[in-house]
Amino acid sequence: MGFQHSQYSRYPRNEIAAIMKRIEQFNHLQDIDAILDQILEEARSLSNADAGSIFIVEDDRLRFGYVHNDTLFKKNEANEEIYVDFSVPIDDQSIVGYVALTGKTIVIEDAYNLPSGSPFTFNSEYDLKAGYKTRSILAVPLYTFHGRMVGVMQLINAKDEKGQVIQFLKKIQDLIPLLANNAAVAIDRGIMNREMILRMVKMAELRDPTETGAHVQRVGAYSAEIYQQWAIRHGIDTQEKNREKDLIRLAAMLHDVGKVGIPDNILKKPEKLTEREFDTMKMHTVYGCRLFMNQKSSLDKMSMQIALNHHEKWNGEGYPGKIEDLMRPNVRPGPPKKKEEIPLIARIVSLADVFDALISMRVYKDPWTDKQAFESIEAGAGSHFDPEIVEIFFQILPVIQAIRLKYRESKMF
Ligand code: C2E
Ligand code: SIN
Ligand code: SIN
Ligand code: FE
Ligand code: FE
Repeated sequence: MGFQHSQYSRYPRNEIAAIMKRIEQFNHLQDIDAILDQILEEARSLSNADAGSIFIVEDDRLRFGYVHNDTLFKKNEANEEIYVDFSVPIDDQSIVGYVALTGKTIVIEDAYNLPSGSPFTFNSEYDLKAGYKTRSILAVPLYTFHGRMVGVMQLINAKDEKGQVIQFLKKIQDLIPLLANNAAVAIDRGIMNREMILRMVKMAELRDPTETGAHVQRVGAYSAEIYQQWAIRHGIDTQEKNREKDLIRLAAMLHDVGKVGIPDNILKKPEKLTEREFDTMKMHTVYGCRLFMNQKSSLDKMSMQIALNHHEKWNGEGYPGKIEDLMRPNVRPGPPKKKEEIPLIARIVSLADVFDALISMRVYKDPWTDKQAFESIEAGAGSHFDPEIVEIFFQILPVIQAIRLKYRESKMF
């Protein structure tokens, strides 16, 4: 890209290089949530901002997409705030709304003392609810390569070396839009990836109406959050952790695509399956696996592991077990697979999927109460589930609940 000349020549070379390095990071990431997380991380580190959030344009509103806040949220702790579900209109009643309305970058020294005659107002609702004090703000529009506005990034409370809140420096005011413009391309790709996977899920959903976009996004999000805590406990380095978390979210969404291969009279049977029917049903794991088997991307590899192993149980009583030739036409379940023989990611998705199936409506059963579902998960520790995964699940329960609220039925995101 032509950063060396024309409009960018006023930037010092080494700073452009640093920005390009940051932008490169975005290109390894696949899912919208991971991309938003990374963009905020880079923008905040560049500007030394205490907090920040990203809003995504959705129809005529801005939907809240992601938030960071060093003061309110502890690093490395599971955080339910990122799953809060709300949107604001694109108008002058909020700063992000005004940025989306006009496409202008807004710099504010003190949110509570806006210069008289400001064309926008500061909405202090969030501060009041969260117990936070916003002062300096830098809000920039996020455009795609083709000039379509996809969202707004708002950075809050720049700090000096002593940790005192200051205004955003002139240099930062120039650099952040440069980062933002390139981030927008990644955001676009992230949304496209999510939509593409949801379209694939929709195909399976035509067959099995319980595998909805909302169900799979919940399973994806529970899995990503459980994995993150597992990775922290096991000292996985940050870069690997972020990459894996990103992949798991998408791959977990595809855990049941193999149900496309199951006949309707079994899939949609409103009562208990016979033993023979359940044997057929079990093959959705192998069918799903086959969809990804010959592909080489990390996402395909992980999707394959999850589709194949998400019904294995810690004690070896799950299915399909160890199978030598997965392509054999009349493939049958094999010898038991147990404990660490089951890939970690599949042990995680297994719990996430069962929990969500229990609390959801199914053709063959009513939703369970939370209490029943929690008791069942707890009782499964060490038999159905990896006990450590169960422990982590209960440790991050507030996040699990926030995910349920965010991805209710009949919402695309
Ligand atoms: P699913 O409905 O998405 O359920 C996923 C997993 O959640 C199940 O895997 C099971 O481990 C757990 N689960 C769901 N509902 C219940 C329940 O009422 N009680 C208990 N104890 N566990 C539950 P599983 O059993 O391997 O089933 C895999 C898939 O097979 C299910 O996916 C569903 O599509 C189908 N299926 C299972 N049992 C029946 C049934 O009795 N009738 C019909 N029509 N389909 C069934
Ligand atoms: C969006 O695309 O609406 C924001 C991303 C998300 O909800 O995860
Ligand atoms: C891993 O897959 O990263 C860990 C191995 C395991 O515990 O299964
Ligand atoms: Fe399944
Ligand atoms: Fe499922």
